Amino acid sequence: IDFKIITNDGSHDSMKMLIDLKNIFARQLPKMPKEYIVRLVFDRNHESMCIIKDNTKVIGGICYRKYPSQRFAEIAFLAITANLQVKGYGTRLMNKFKEHIQKQDVEYLLTYADNYAIGYFRKQGFYQEIKMNQDRWKGFIKDYDGGTLMECYVHPNIDYGN
Ligand code: ACO
Repeated sequence: IDFKIITNDGSHDSMKMLIDLKNIFARQLPKMPKEYIVRLVFDRNHESMCIIKDNTKVIGGICYRKYPSQRFAEIAFLAITANLQVKGYGTRLMNKFKEHIQKQDVEYLLTYADNYAIGYFRKQGFYQEIKMNQDRWKGFIKDYDGGTLMECYVHPNIDYGN
């Protein structure tokens, strides 16, 4: 298992992996309009961390956007392919993601969690109570009715890489 940060850099390999990831999101997040998923996954302001099996096969990932001046990042989409869910990959992905984002001087993660995913996010240290000051994030991320806003504090000194 490998974890790779993929951006829309125009290379063939990146394109292929982002298409595979987009397809996993589209299947696992059926309420999300497909065009919206495509737009964000290929948007130059967004990055994705992919979980890759056997060197080439994308089995899941996180698509996110960093707001460096605000020191937070928003998780737009997160999914693991259907037949590999609830085997711990989602937890490993989140830990790797925190380890990565911590080095980028990000202090908070925000996400609009699907109702079904609230339990998963809770286990990953996300809370419905938003501690970050409103003026730091309001207006930066889009309001979204279909989900519950959750926040995770990324401690600068915790080793998330286990
Ligand atoms: N509700 C409650 N608990 C859950 C859920 C859930 N939907 N999914 C997993 N868990 C629990 C597991 O039981 C496990 O608990 P444990 O540690 O006590 O055993 C823990 O969360 C972690 O489980 P993992 O095996 O690491 O999770 P998984 O690999 O299945 O990844 C994920 C979780 C990403 C939510 C996956 O199930 C998935 O892709 N689901 C469908 C898509 C989805 O809902 N994505 C999130 C939408 S919100 C958003 O994208 C911003």
